[in-house]
Amino acid sequence: QLPILRLLSCPGTVAADPRREEQPSGSAETGSEDKTPKKRFSEVQKERREQAQRTVLIHCPNKISEKKFLKYLSQHGPINNHFFYESYGLYAVVEFCQKESVDSLQNGAHTPSMSTEAVIPFRSRYFNLKLKNPSNQTSQQSHIQCSNQLPPSSKKIFELLRCAESIDDQLNSLLKEFQLTEENTKLRYLTCSLVEDIAAAYFPDCTVRPFGSSVNTFGKLGCDLDMFLDLDEIGKLSAVKTAGNFLMEFQVKNIPSGRIATQKILSVIGECLDHFGPGCVGVQKILNARCPLVRFSHHASGFQCDLTTNNRIALKSSELLYIYGALDSRVRALVFTVRCWARAHSLTSSIPGAWITNFSLTMIVIFFLQRRSPPILPTLDSLKNLAGAEDKCIIEGNNCTFIRDLSRIKPSGNTETLELLLKEFFEYFGNFAFNKNSINIRQGKEQNKPDSSPLHIQNPFETSLNISKNVSQSQLQKFVDLARESAWILQQEGQDRPSPSSNQPWGLAALLLPSIANGMALARKKGKKPINETVKNLLESIKSNSAENSTNTHRK
Ligand code: GTP
Ligand code: MG
Repeated sequence: QLPILRLLSCPGTVAADPRREEQPSGSAETGSEDKTPKKRFSEVQKERREQAQRTVLIHCPNKISEKKFLKYLSQHGPINNHFFYESYGLYAVVEFCQKESVDSLQNGAHTPSMSTEAVIPFRSRYFNLKLKNPSNQTSQQSHIQCSNQLPPSSKKIFELLRCAESIDDQLNSLLKEFQLTEENTKLRYLTCSLVEDIAAAYFPDCTVRPFGSSVNTFGKLGCDLDMFLDLDEIGKLSAVKTAGNFLMEFQVKNIPSGRIATQKILSVIGECLDHFGPGCVGVQKILNARCPLVRFSHHASGFQCDLTTNNRIALKSSELLYIYGALDSRVRALVFTVRCWARAHSLTSSIPGAWITNFSLTMIVIFFLQRRSPPILPTLDSLKNLAGAEDKCIIEGNNCTFIRDLSRIKPSGNTETLELLLKEFFEYFGNFAFNKNSINIRQGKEQNKPDSSPLHIQNPFETSLNISKNVSQSQLQKFVDLARESAWILQQEGQDRPSPSSNQPWGLAALLLPSIANGMALARKKGKKPINETVKNLLESIKSNSAENSTNTHRK
């Protein structure tokens, strides 16, 4: 009996809802292969942030007339955009054209009074809509189209991959299904904006910015929401020069170190989210971590959130990955595929430990694409050399400068197919001298490993650090074994593709079967390669297993 097919989805916190609607999602901002973003990262962040500030989140009754709902809200001003989604109930995200409309809506809202419990008044942008007269409304309710926030089921993915025309088509389909939708992106920025309102109780003028895979173009539906509490704008020396001989400073508390300051700030914000933050549940303060954080679930959006501060380099890394993701349409397709492949084989995990992370996998793919001939991606050093004076960026003594204007980076002349790249990726890392060499995207070539950690991937900005220091020898070996086996499967596949009418998983689908990992481990133990027949039998059995897994979701 084969192990049940592991879901490929990125872990998420949104519960599988049986009422989930399937509908074509809006185009993702950083889009599919034909939609290369041209905007700078900072422009996207600014636009999205401003959009989120005009937006409200409303928990709606299940039975509601969309038309009446919109008419009611329009009393407060014109609506630019709205969508519904289901999480633990029905929710609406409503973006007004003007920020004043949000004030008007807040002025018309009241704090509920409870008979048994006390409530703490909080004027947020997260509302609860009640029907004054429920019986009157039910007759006019229309069917509400809900935007999907969940990753696709394994069954759907396998079906899509089976029906694809080529391996290239398979990789692009996978990307299209898993990438963040326009609505999901909006919900992420809105959640940050709502948390910012809470943090502003302590630190007026603070900013809460999303970073990591929510914004770096490599996010999959269901991935966590990394937030950065930015206090740097508060009390910065203003551009307005005051006349006279004096300079006015704020009185401030002195704290022994930056780390202690970060811990103190996150501690109070964590308390505040826990006690007063509408929709924030399961708040954990993880203040002794290398990078202190507050982890919580935002109940309404379903996002698992990690809030950090004093973490500006991570924001810069997100910008760098955004640029790499935008430079060539093959990058995201390959990264998504490798991440799904790693997830399917338990190379990545939700539990912190000796596993490789998605961030490290992305670096590995970028490095591989820098090594092609001609290169598909430029090295970080060459992006630094292209930078102008306005791009200069030093964070805590680390040079984080690189060009930010995408249009000034020359496109690659490399025309290799995704199928070839995937095969070569597995071959390359199946034979990489991990014992000697370090992966270095700054120079785009292997370097001698500076220490004895099994896997060494140089942190691109803090170059003395290894981003995969946690990875154990056995996890690295598992990665290498799987890479070799996958290269072998792809080679066999090329010679022996099933007919389109056959139900057999092929190409990428065959690589995502967990059974391959088992077959490989077994073969290694016995010192022989798995035979084609064994693999075919394993592939066959997926047909019965895949049906059982259509609603399975994994948490990170
Ligand atoms: P997901 O698995 O989809 O959440 O990918 P992610 O890129 O968001 O990874 P994660 O949530 O673990 O981390 C968020 C961001 O923190 C990453 O995108 C990086 O910018 C940064 N980061 C994570 N791990 C490391 C690390 O080991 N070293 C450094 N320098 N930065 C890291
Ligand atoms: Mg993340």
